[in-house]
Amino acid sequence: MLKFPKFLGALALAGIAISTSAQASGDVAKGEKLFNRCKACHAVGAGAKNKIGPHLNEVFGRTAGTIDGFKYSSAMKKAGEGNLVWSEETIDEFLAKPRTFVKGTKMSFAGFRKEADRENVIAYLKTFSETGADAKEEAMPATEEKMAAAAPAAAPRPLAKDAELPSHGVFHLGRRATDEEIAAWDIDIRPDGAGLPDGKGTAAAGEPIFTEQCASCHGDFGEGRDRWPVLAGGFDTLQEERPEKTVGSYWPYLSTVYDYVRRAMPFGDARSLSDDEVYAITAYILYLNDIVTDLDFELSKDNFSTIKLPNEANFVDDDRPAETHYTNKTEPCMQNCKADVRITGRARVLDVTPDDDNQGGQIE
Ligand code: HEC
Ligand code: HEC
Repeated sequence: MLKFPKFLGALALAGIAISTSAQASGDVAKGEKLFNRCKACHAVGAGAKNKIGPHLNEVFGRTAGTIDGFKYSSAMKKAGEGNLVWSEETIDEFLAKPRTFVKGTKMSFAGFRKEADRENVIAYLKTFSETGADAKEEAMPATEEKMAAAAPAAAPRPLAKDAELPSHGVFHLGRRATDEEIAAWDIDIRPDGAGLPDGKGTAAAGEPIFTEQCASCHGDFGEGRDRWPVLAGGFDTLQEERPEKTVGSYWPYLSTVYDYVRRAMPFGDARSLSDDEVYAITAYILYLNDIVTDLDFELSKDNFSTIKLPNEANFVDDDRPAETHYTNKTEPCMQNCKADVRITGRARVLDVTPDDDNQGGQIE
């Protein structure tokens, strides 16, 4: 694996071990976990493609803003033209304060304040860079364990042993879901609070979690960054042409907030939050929306259903079967139901896809 003869390697080893000891201390396994925060936007490993951000294979030694086919901000392209090359040091500085380090970057990520977090994620990224991986082997005589941790995470999971489970249905495809699988999927929470897990959390406890895990997309106060969803405010806009539909202004039930956050957020790392953390974040979202005003407010399974969202009354039960439109028509129309069909709008015209230099787009 070493690219140079053994004796040279031994010399280099001594030198590098001293010069990079501070940098090489990152923990790959911890870095992999932290990378969950990047995953929504960046892919690594075999077949990694550009997503919201460029893929990060071979990022060490890459001139900033140079992956073909990725639409960088002009700020990032300029940084590359000004000779910004990604290394342990520059990635560390970038991740500490992305928007300060590359002013005008379109990377919507607040950064890692903790140096250890940055070191760990850098150690993980290195396992996807030839140069980085080599440097690491040279610098640290890796133990069995560290090598295992450094292995790319993309190893396929073994298939569940399902031989004992009966196949079913006329096609004999698939197998019955196990009780554990059903329990893992069956996590919906109803407006009356049915399905809520035990637990509790205060808005004060939710604040730092929100800042760490949600603010990079939703803004420090739920105001939404770039085009990521706004979670707070927007009261009194529902009658306007462009209503601001937030948890506070629009959503009818708090149960949806708990269910949604637990099920789907943070984006790219769903199901990573504990039940208590979700209670705390939900309490904090109530606080951001001025629905509770005390940061010490504690939301729990017990008081959950006493919280009402302001817009609940404007939602009505689905009474479609009773509507005349439905009751009068026994056979629904399936063909040529409208005489005069005209196209009145196109998504292209709305320009809903964010552009690098034009984050706001031009919705008229
Ligand atoms: C919300 C999406 C998002 C998240 C989260 C995010 N990034 Fe990015 N990242 C981007 C985008 C978009 C760019 C391109 C920036 C530009 O063009 O200004 C980028 C650029 C980069 C670059 C420069 C790559 C190049 O080719 O020049 C690095 C390095 C990087 N990100 C690392 C990370 C790491 C590590 C994390 C997690 C700790 C992370 N990013 C989290 C969206 C994201
Ligand atoms: C990497 C960006 C990102 C991060 C980080 C993130 N979200 Fe989201 N969030 C999204 C996107 C994208 C959507 C819209 C998803 C959709 O509509 O399918 C969303 C939607 C939501 C919604 C529903 C908004 C609406 O009006 O429909 C809530 C509530 C929410 N997120 C809460 C959170 C919380 C709480 C966290 C932190 C634990 C979090 N998000 C972290 C990107 C993110």
